[in-house]
Amino acid sequence: MKQICVIGVGYVGLVTAACFADLGNRVCALDVDDKRVENLKKGVMPIYEPGLEELVKRNTKSGRLSFTTSYSDGLAGAEFAFIAVGTPSGIDGNLIIINKSTVPIGTGDWVADIVKSAQPKPIDFAVVSCPEFLREGSAIADFMGPHRNVIGSLERDAADKVAQLHLPLRSPIVITDLRTAEMIKYASNAFLATKISFINELADLCELVGADVKEVAAGMGYDARIGRYFLDAGLGWGGSCFPKDVQALAYMAKERGLNPRILNDVMDVNYDRRKLVSKQVEKLLGGNVKGKTVGMLGLAFKENTDDMRDAPSVDISNALVAAGAKVRGYDPVARVTAAPLMPAVEIFDDVYKMAEGCDALIVVTQWNEFKQLDLEKIKELLKTPVIYDGRNIYDPNLMREMGFTYQAIGRGNHKK
Ligand code: UGA
Repeated sequence: MKQICVIGVGYVGLVTAACFADLGNRVCALDVDDKRVENLKKGVMPIYEPGLEELVKRNTKSGRLSFTTSYSDGLAGAEFAFIAVGTPSGIDGNLIIINKSTVPIGTGDWVADIVKSAQPKPIDFAVVSCPEFLREGSAIADFMGPHRNVIGSLERDAADKVAQLHLPLRSPIVITDLRTAEMIKYASNAFLATKISFINELADLCELVGADVKEVAAGMGYDARIGRYFLDAGLGWGGSCFPKDVQALAYMAKERGLNPRILNDVMDVNYDRRKLVSKQVEKLLGGNVKGKTVGMLGLAFKENTDDMRDAPSVDISNALVAAGAKVRGYDPVARVTAAPLMPAVEIFDDVYKMAEGCDALIVVTQWNEFKQLDLEKIKELLKTPVIYDGRNIYDPNLMREMGFTYQAIGRGNHKK
């Protein structure tokens, strides 16, 4: 059993703290937000993440996981301090400071300098970069079954100790220097975002040449050099990670005199997709959405989360409202987080009530419950049976057989 302090109980910090506690370590999670810490002590989660509440409650009850707002309490006796936001101060003893947050390359060295210069008496410490690769909505499964763990530090002893912490996960472990570890995180996210923008660009061509992008992705994906993951065409990427990481990487390149052409295009392709939606819905509704009612199926940036950061639903609803449409929205969990971001949108807590009287529906988020909707009922409730499937979750032939005016993304062969 190791003693660990996790600084910052946002999404990454909380998952890290709960999972390391579940692996049998003693973890104290620290945050400066009193309310958040008080709530966590009572078992109230600050975010929606499947399985997290149960994990936090179980490990709090067993005494392996605790929460505090005090740095001295949190760091007392800790051998490892994970930074999942901000920077710690006032540490004492032997400590390995591990950076989990995605931070500009060079931050690890900067943290080491700060800790060094802020010590009243010199202490033995090392800084290690250990970027997280968790996806919202499946963070616990990703933590417990990682593709790899990356550990960046030239101090072999510290890197080995952090590697030991991850041994129960039985994942490949990459040990490298601080800056390379930080770059691996950015490069991974930017590459995944590139895959998505690539398939979205191809989707438009598929549409025009009469091919089906879903089958193209499946056919490409069997080649292990390409891989099937992150080739789902649709409304593109949003969230708290890809947008800021691709932008940050492009900025770092530009700042150093480079021209990050690919990264810039990856962003343009992604955001153009959102702009297209209202125009395409307009076309489906006979050239005008003025006075028409359009319902959004899903508001969160992806399924299984209530996170609304850079969610396509915000841009799509803004464009529709600007064009004169009345916009409605439904999401299984993101209704509360979405409401302040879209004051002009009427948010429903029942998908069928939302559909009633709509001129068109747009699938914005690929929640499982939308895949199994009672489409006959939906058809009857809609004023006109128009569906724009922004996540390609339905079968185009079936939808047309059922009498829907149906448009998906990049599925040109179903148009004949
Ligand atoms: C992403 C990475 O996948 C994680 O590895 C990383 O740890 C995390 O960022 C982070 O940096 O913290 P996340 O943003 O939570 O995770 O979710 P993803 O599953 O990667 O989805 C990102 C966006 O891409 C979503 O909007 C999703 O709808 C979209 N997407 C994903 C597609 O449009 N097509 C796909 O094929 C896959």
